[in-house]
Amino acid sequence: MQELAASQPFEAVAYLLWNGELPTEQQLAELRTEERQHRALTETVRAAIDLLPLDAHPMDEVRTAVSVIGACDMGGSGSVLDASGSPEQNLQRSILLYAALPAIVAYGQRRRRGLDQVEPRDDLDYSANFLWMTFGEEADSVVVDAFNRSMILYAEHSFNASTFAARVITSTLSDLYSGVVGAIGALKGPLHGGANEAVLHIMDEIGSADNVENWLDKALAEKRKIMGFGHRVYKNGDSRVPTMKAALDTLVDHFDRPDVAELYAKLESEFVARKGIYPNLDYPPVPPTTSSGLTR
Ligand code: COA
Repeated sequence: MQELAASQPFEAVAYLLWNGELPTEQQLAELRTEERQHRALTETVRAAIDLLPLDAHPMDEVRTAVSVIGACDMGGSGSVLDASGSPEQNLQRSILLYAALPAIVAYGQRRRRGLDQVEPRDDLDYSANFLWMTFGEEADSVVVDAFNRSMILYAEHSFNASTFAARVITSTLSDLYSGVVGAIGALKGPLHGGANEAVLHIMDEIGSADNVENWLDKALAEKRKIMGFGHRVYKNGDSRVPTMKAALDTLVDHFDRPDVAELYAKLESEFVARKGIYPNLDYPPVPPTTSSGLTR
């Protein structure tokens, strides 16, 4: 995964997961062309998201939108017996969902902030287009690169809770969309994918490296879980963390924010010293970023 994160675009890793091997240049170009053709959301999906409260959680928006896409696509399937579909149909459905997901997230983010929607651009790669649709400006290449690496590292997740949830659902011969909706529900939990959002909240709570020791004393006394640390499988440290950390370091240098690096380093060293529990991929998180600054 580290090798892939250093050398491949996210699109090539998506192809690898679907097909078991990296694409040739032509196969990658074909996938990119297909993905770019299906980036825009339908009016039905936009309308469904618009029905949700403005303070709906982004993961609830994504889960709802996938469910709507599924209902629209499955509408003509006729019988529940047709729902699971052929491998070819499911690969096609996966590509269409993969194309739509960045637009779903961006749509929700801009709606929440009261901003006009930004249409996808077909001259940008997957990650760059996501940042464009979310922030309405072209991201610096260093930001796109960090985000691309983050996406690739998250793609390596073996048989985790959300994958398990999806497999349980599809093993009943239900459809792919139902599996993805269930997986998103599992992923949202703070003990799984929700941990990276929770880490950002923790960082806001702590404020600066000087406050780490007091904050940690109190959090441990209250028996709180420290988000971004620990893993069911990687008990001696998550092998993906150094690559993610290198991406964060690049952003810290680029935006001249040594305070962010100090805070992360201090919490990590204090928590490892006290509990012997190491960071997972959600720590440090690499947040999507505008050209104007690095959010915590
Ligand atoms: N903060 C505080 N205590 C933690 C901890 C954390 N992040 N991670 C583990 N522990 C504690 C456990 O509560 C347990 O304590 P106990 O023996 O008193 O019951 C002990 O350390 C051993 O836990 P372990 O068996 O190694 O972990 P697990 O397999 O039960 O849980 C996680 C794994 C990922 C669910 C857990 O580490 C966690 O909740 N981490 C925070 C959330 C997170 O970052 N999730 C993303 C995972 S990729």
